[in-house]
Amino acid sequence: MSDVLGTTHLLGIDALGTADIELIFRTADGFKEVLSRPIKKVPSLRDVTIANLFFENSTRTRVSFELAEKRLSADVVNFSSSSSSTKKGETLVDTVNNILAMKVDMVVMRHPDPGAAVFLSRHANARIINAGDGTHAHPTQALLDAYSIREKLGKVNGVKVAIVGDILHSRVALSNIQCLQKLGAEVMLCGPSTLMPKYVEHLGVRVTNNLDEALKWCDVANMLRIQLERQGGDGIANFPSLREYAMLYGLDGNRYRQIGKEVVIMHPGPINRGVEITSEVADGANSIILDQVENGVAIRMAVLFLLASGLERGSANK
Ligand code: CP
Repeated sequence: MSDVLGTTHLLGIDALGTADIELIFRTADGFKEVLSRPIKKVPSLRDVTIANLFFENSTRTRVSFELAEKRLSADVVNFSSSSSSTKKGETLVDTVNNILAMKVDMVVMRHPDPGAAVFLSRHANARIINAGDGTHAHPTQALLDAYSIREKLGKVNGVKVAIVGDILHSRVALSNIQCLQKLGAEVMLCGPSTLMPKYVEHLGVRVTNNLDEALKWCDVANMLRIQLERQGGDGIANFPSLREYAMLYGLDGNRYRQIGKEVVIMHPGPINRGVEITSEVADGANSIILDQVENGVAIRMAVLFLLASGLERGSANK
């Protein structure tokens, strides 16, 4: 068990209490200050070894975790499934236990299968951080998103957040809902019915199929990527065409101006420019998309630092 968080691993937001999230934010505040210095490095995780295991593509999360680890002076090893022995049929548990045998303390894992991080936490003797598992959870993305709202608006409690688009395939949506609700925000989901999960009524959120209604209601709009790679077939199984999707659920400059008030624009990336959001809005004055990416490093430094508390270093232990 971590000495300071109510959890040994970070598998999802559900295991974190509100006090845990606030502690992560306060710790990230300190690391943001470190990242503004000419020398952006502290010795906090010296002698801690971290393996980054990516079984699915990533740009932001992979680079952000690696930078966070290096800024904390951890020893880092990177693993990509495309160049590994998983291609020869090795199982996930065998792969990870072989890496842990080399005295790794913490594992950051992205995997296409929902539940992969939970499974690993039960079969591997290391602290596991879920960097995204299929359509299930992406806890550090939710933390950095809520942290970015707090930074922009000064609070999360009471803020109205619309999450727009492909909710069905989105691990970001589920983790965001849990994190925002723990911090007292109101959440509305907006998208076509075919991209809403069946269990949506159990999530404690408002739901609409009308983007203009969602935009008028919210203070923050988090525009999700259409996850074509998870829709099977030719990638468009849940709506007629990308053009129709963009007309109904895409946010362009004209639609933004019709809201008649300032709405903070977020996107977890990678962006399908011209589909869920146009460049005019993504790169506009009310967009905090690159602030989200910047804050990701400080948030991941905080998570790694707090989860490593109480760790007997170099011994691959829980
Ligand atoms: N937001 C996010 O998870 O991006 P990557 O897939 O590039 O890591």
